[in-house]
This record gives sequence, structure tokens and C-alpha cells, in this order.
Amino acid sequence: MQAVCRKATADDVEILVELIADYAAKGIMLPRSREVLLRQIDTFVVAEVEGTVVGCGSLCRLGTDLVEVRSLGISEGYKGFGIGSKLIDFLLGEAREQRIPKVMALTYEARFFQKNGFTVVDKEIFPEKVWTDCVNCPKQHACDEIAVLKTLN
Ligand SMILES: CC(C)(COP(=O)(O)OP(=O)(O)OC[C@H]1O[C@@H](n2cnc3c(N)ncnc32)[C@H](O)[C@@H]1OP(=O)(O)O)[C@@H](O)C(=O)NCCC(=O)NCCS
Repeated sequence: MQAVCRKATADDVEILVELIADYAAKGIMLPRSREVLLRQIDTFVVAEVEGTVVGCGSLCRLGTDLVEVRSLGISEGYKGFGIGSKLIDFLLGEAREQRIPKVMALTYEARFFQKNGFTVVDKEIFPEKVWTDCVNCPKQHACDEIAVLKTLN
């Protein structure tokens, strides 16, 4: 399946709302409102197959040398064709362009990230994350997500 990755534009907001709401309902992604998505659209990338958006991801800056991969998801029916990996490559390219050497994620899909060159690490090595987002999270003391990190060279 031939997928093309590109930066998202304001025209993609509606499809992103749907894609993310679907995963948020299943508890595997944080919900993003239309307003927030529109404000943060510059941080999003999408994957298209024959002109249809079938996946997305975003980069959230946590510090001078660290970004987090967020909102990474592929539509049902399009998983397992390498599109998630293509999106990761594209996001890593964005991080490189921005001269940010460390890319992390908190995920239930550690094996997917490992296949893409990330290493499982202890969450506590990211005080930027723990002290901004995790402190406000209801799952704070029972977090079952796995932290992964890739250092760019
Ligand atoms: C996780 C996700 C983004 C992967 O995207 P994808 O396009 O299906 O993944 P790819 O086809 O690029 O897979 C790349 C490799 O990872 C492996 N992989 C993918 N998902 C996996 C999983 N859940 N468990 C183990 N391995 C997995 C694939 O087998 C493949 O390995 P291979 O190269 O040896 O064949 C996608 O399944 C998804 O949208 N999941 C739900 C949302 C989610 O959990 N997002 C992560 C939030 S951080």
C-alpha cells in the first residue's frame, strides 16, 4: 500500500478530529478538541493513501533538546502496512530539521517503537514530561504506558 506523508494543514482538522476521537474513545489516545487541533495543526503530520488521510502523528516540544511523539494513529484497515513507520520517519525528519536530538513517546505499543529504533527507558528520566503532563493525569500513580526514546545522530 503506497502512503505519502506530509505536514497537516487546516483542511485536515475535521478528519483529525474523527481519527483522534476514535482512539480516545478506546482509551489509547488523549482527546483533542477541534479548537486545540486548529491551534496546534503546525505540529501535526498526516499519511495519505490515494488522497485519503489514513493516519496522523504530532510532535510536542517538551524542552530544548526533547520532543514527544503524540497522537500517532493509523485507521482501521490500514494498520500493518508500514504506514505508522513511515509517519515515525517523517516525524524524526521534522525533529532533525528543528535540531532536536531526543524524541520520546509514552505508549502501549512499545514493540512498534522498538522496531523503529526506539529504546524502552524509565519515565523518570523525563522530568519535563512528568512535571507538566503526568502530574495532572488521573493515572499518575498507576501509569501503565511505556516510555520509549530515540536519540538522533
Ligand atoms: C501502533 C500503530 C501506530 C502502528 O502503525 P502500523 O502502520 O500498523 O505499523 P507498521 O506497519 O509500520 O509496523 C512496523 C513494525 O512494527 C510492528 N508492529 C506494529 N504494531 C505492533 C504491535 N501492536 N505489536 C507488535 N508489533 C507491532 C509490525 O509488525 C512491523 O514489524 P515488521 O517491520 O517486522 O513487519 C498502529 O497500529 C495504531 O494506530 N495503533 C493504535 C493507536 C496507538 O496505539 N498509537 C500509539 C500511540 S503512542
